[in-house]
Amino acid sequence: MNTLAIETSCDETSVSVVSDAAKIKSNVVSSQINVHAKFFGVVPELASREHIKNINPVLETALKEAGVNWANFSNKIDAIAFTCGPGLAGALLVGALAAKSLASVFKKPLIPVNHLEGHIYSSYIENKSVKPPFLSLIISGGHTELIIIKDFGKYEFLGATRDDAAGEAFDKAAKMLGLSYPGGPIIDERAEFGNCKAVNFTRPYLKGSWDFSFSGIKTALLNYLKKEPVKNEKHLNDICASFRQSVAETLCFKAFEAAQKFGLKQIVLGGGVSSNSLIRKLFMESGKKNKIKVYIPSLVYCSDNAAMIGCAAYLKQKKCGLKYSAELLKSNPSLRLKNWK
Ligand SMILES: Nc1ncnc2c1ncn2[C@@H]1O[C@H](COP(=O)(O)OP(=O)(O)OP(=O)(O)O)[C@@H](O)[C@H]1O
Ligand SMILES: [Mg+2]
Repeated sequence: MNTLAIETSCDETSVSVVSDAAKIKSNVVSSQINVHAKFFGVVPELASREHIKNINPVLETALKEAGVNWANFSNKIDAIAFTCGPGLAGALLVGALAAKSLASVFKKPLIPVNHLEGHIYSSYIENKSVKPPFLSLIISGGHTELIIIKDFGKYEFLGATRDDAAGEAFDKAAKMLGLSYPGGPIIDERAEFGNCKAVNFTRPYLKGSWDFSFSGIKTALLNYLKKEPVKNEKHLNDICASFRQSVAETLCFKAFEAAQKFGLKQIVLGGGVSSNSLIRKLFMESGKKNKIKVYIPSLVYCSDNAAMIGCAAYLKQKKCGLKYSAELLKSNPSLRLKNWK
C-alpha cells in the first residue's frame, strides 16, 4: 500500500510518499523560517499564504521523487493521509484541501492523522523494533508531553507543560539573548562552546507531578541578564550552555523517572527539540545506564515532515482500516490525542 501524506500544521509544507512498513519513497519539506524569523515566531496569516504558494511545487516534487505522475497516480497511490490537527487553522486547511481534492479526483480513501501521532511514531520509520508499550516524550515548538503508548493508538496521558513548551522556551531565551529565530538550534550550537556550569539555572522537576514548567528557567534567565548583561561571545556561549543543561537535565530526569515508575523499557523521543545534541546525548547515556532502550529519530524526522504523518497513517490503517467519519476528517486546530477505535 502506498500512501501520499501531507503535513501543513505550522510553518513547514511537506509531502511524502510512504509505502508498506512505513518505507519512505520521498519526503519533501519546504520551510518558511525565513518568512517568520523577523517576527520571532510563526505569523498564522503568513503561514497560510506560504502554504498556498508552496503546496503544489512540493507535491509535484514529492510525487516525482517517488516515481509517481498524474498519469499513473491512480495505480501507484492507494490512500491520502493528511494532518487534521492540532495546528494553525488556516495552515491546516491548505493541507486538508489538497488532500481532499486529490482524494475526490482520484477516488482514494483519506486517512486523518493527529500531528502529535506523527511525532510519537516518527522513530518507527527507521526502527521497526519500536513497539508498544513505550514512553513517548514529545518535545516540540508547541508541546512537551509525556504519554504512555500502551498500544498503537492507545494512550495514557501522564503530563504536559503547564506553560511554555520546551521549544518555545529555547526560542524565547534566544530572543532575550539577542539571537535570531528559531533559537533552539542557535542556543544548541553556541552551547557546544560554552561552560554549562557557568550559571546555575533552576531544574524545574515539579516533584509529585509528571507535568513540566519552563517559565521559571526563562524568568531566571531574564533576572540573570538584568544583573549580568552579556559581556562577550564567551559569556553568551556560557549562558547558552547553562540554559540548555537545565532544560535537558529536567526532561531526562522526568522521562526516566516515569519509565522506571511505570516499568517501561523503551523511551521514544519526537518533535523538533529532540534534535538538541545534549538531549540526544543525555538520553542515550541514561538509557544505557538504566537499561532502557532509547529511540530518537534522525534530525530530518524530528521537526515537522510528512514522512512521519505517512508513518502514523500506515500504522493507523493497519489497525482501523480506511474508512473514517466526516467528523474525524474535519480539520481541528485544537485536536486532542484520542484512542483509535
Ligand atoms: N537543536 C535544537 N535544540 C533545541 N531546540 C530545537 C533544536 N532544533 C529545533 N528546535 C526547536 O524545535 C521547535 C520546532 O519543532 P517542531 O517543528 O516539531 O515544532 P512545531 O511543529 O512548531 O510544534 P508542534 O509539533 O508542537 O505543533 C522550535 O521551537 C525550535 O527552536
Ligand atoms: Mg511539530
